Amino acid sequence: MSHFKWWQKAVFYQIYPRSFADGNGDGIGDIKGMTEKLGYLKDLGVDALWLSPHFPSPMFDCGYDISNYEDVAPEYGTLDDFRIFLDSAHAHGMHVILDLVLNHTSDEHRWFLESKSSRDNPKADWYVWVDTPPNNWQSCFDGPAWTFAPERGQYYYHYFMKQQPDLNWHNPEVRKAMWNAARFWLEMGVDGFRLDAIGTIFEDPKLTPHTVPMDLAGLRHFSDIAKTPEERALVEQYWMDMFKYQLGQPGIHELMKELRSVLDEYDGDRMLVGEDDDVTYQGNGEDELSLVFNFPLMRTDQLSPECVRKNQQERIAALAKVSPEAWACNTLGNHDCARVFSRYSASRSGGDAFQDTKLARLNLAVVLTLRGTPFLYNGEEIGMTDYLIPDQARLRDTMATWYYERLVNELKVEPSQAALRAAAMSRDKNRTPLQWRNAPNGGFCPAEVTPWLPVNPNYAEGINVQDQEMDPTSLLTFYRRLLRVRKATPALVEGDYRPVHETSQEVLAFLRSTSDQKVLVTLNFSENQISLDFSDLGVKSARVIYSSTAQVTTDYPQLILNPFEIWIAKLS
Ligand code: NOJ
Repeated sequence: MSHFKWWQKAVFYQIYPRSFADGNGDGIGDIKGMTEKLGYLKDLGVDALWLSPHFPSPMFDCGYDISNYEDVAPEYGTLDDFRIFLDSAHAHGMHVILDLVLNHTSDEHRWFLESKSSRDNPKADWYVWVDTPPNNWQSCFDGPAWTFAPERGQYYYHYFMKQQPDLNWHNPEVRKAMWNAARFWLEMGVDGFRLDAIGTIFEDPKLTPHTVPMDLAGLRHFSDIAKTPEERALVEQYWMDMFKYQLGQPGIHELMKELRSVLDEYDGDRMLVGEDDDVTYQGNGEDELSLVFNFPLMRTDQLSPECVRKNQQERIAALAKVSPEAWACNTLGNHDCARVFSRYSASRSGGDAFQDTKLARLNLAVVLTLRGTPFLYNGEEIGMTDYLIPDQARLRDTMATWYYERLVNELKVEPSQAALRAAAMSRDKNRTPLQWRNAPNGGFCPAEVTPWLPVNPNYAEGINVQDQEMDPTSLLTFYRRLLRVRKATPALVEGDYRPVHETSQEVLAFLRSTSDQKVLVTLNFSENQISLDFSDLGVKSARVIYSSTAQVTTDYPQLILNPFEIWIAKLS
């Protein structure tokens, strides 16, 4: 029997609750909607669900500002609705993990309300308080990182918005309270957590000022207008320097160990995945996080064979230093970044729009065939694209509305220009409601209801679930098929990774092998037919288990790959 844990074998699917499915027709996604769509998710072939925050929140950061860790946002439903969802997901054979935001709470959380009420209340030391701002630190969302609370006559620290005060994790009472919140959900049966922004939990104890000669709005503006390579390099340097004393500070490992031991009180291999790419947070492979994301793969400008190979070489080497058991986790998109279909599309760089769907298939093939746990983001299975919301009044990402105000009022940018820039940097563009049908509002909510974010009108052009379910050539059909191929092929899940044809610019080729099975994956990223010779592998025959161009017989070890072909075969 395989010794791999469920979360190593699973394909995860991220649900953004506000946009996924609206069960009560009020224009906001909810738990009833999610429960109704479990059959869809099961058919898709995913094994585990990660829910972005579903807790009560004043929604200054779309749920990442939590005002009660042990309840459900009323617009999403009730705790009972959640229990029904969890039990049905389990009954469908799917695991569920929640988003745990450790660094900060909402400023409307009762802990903060009490903490700010005086300097000597029982929770006075639960957040980070100072008499005067000790440095020029910025919040990564909205200007200075220190905000005045008149009730105490002091300033509090926030890495994110001022509505998201940082907890003081040096205080053992904070740890105790948050671990109890985690236990609340673990008792109920959730299978683990995605840990938000763990790198931001501790700050430089010396409070060293940053050295960037501008503030956050200035740096965003400079990033938008920088043109020359020198300016671009400076932008990158400034982003690193601006936050370097507020990120990745000592203390995180100890904290992760503590949380790990909380999860270990429960059976069922509960798991933790950190929103970070530092593999050292996987501890010795057992005592900290189960996984961290391979963000360098997600952040590459262009997914090419060369960059995937380089990424794999670096990640595999880094993981090996952690422990022989340390496991990878690959993703190409989430609720914080441009949609994968828009990011890697050919049409974006002046190419052929027809190629976009082929590239979308290659993208999925990369995450499903590399070694590691794949995370998919809701909507990518139908090729949802970024939607630049034209009316700035309809933006909900406060990071973008804040920037719009600064552009117009401080930097004197013309409002229509500012609106374009705000829409482009906003994360709303990749959080629009899921497009279920070719119907008003994409079938997400009734025609007469205004959804919380506008629906991308391209639902009428075939980018919707219902049309694609009926089309054997659709992206959705392809997702289902490739997910099944992965599940039926142990080497694609458990096998090691060995690159072949390592200098090819066009083709990403690698072997995935277990002691019982050897699988060759070849992904042609070019628009040309490519011939490759695999005689060096010393294996005589290949049985095709998937070809995107329906090539079933080949002259293996000679292979002619069609343009953009995905070709996967068992070798023997
Ligand atoms: C990371 C989350 O993914 C993002 O959406 C959020 O705004 C910040 N952390 C703050 O919680």
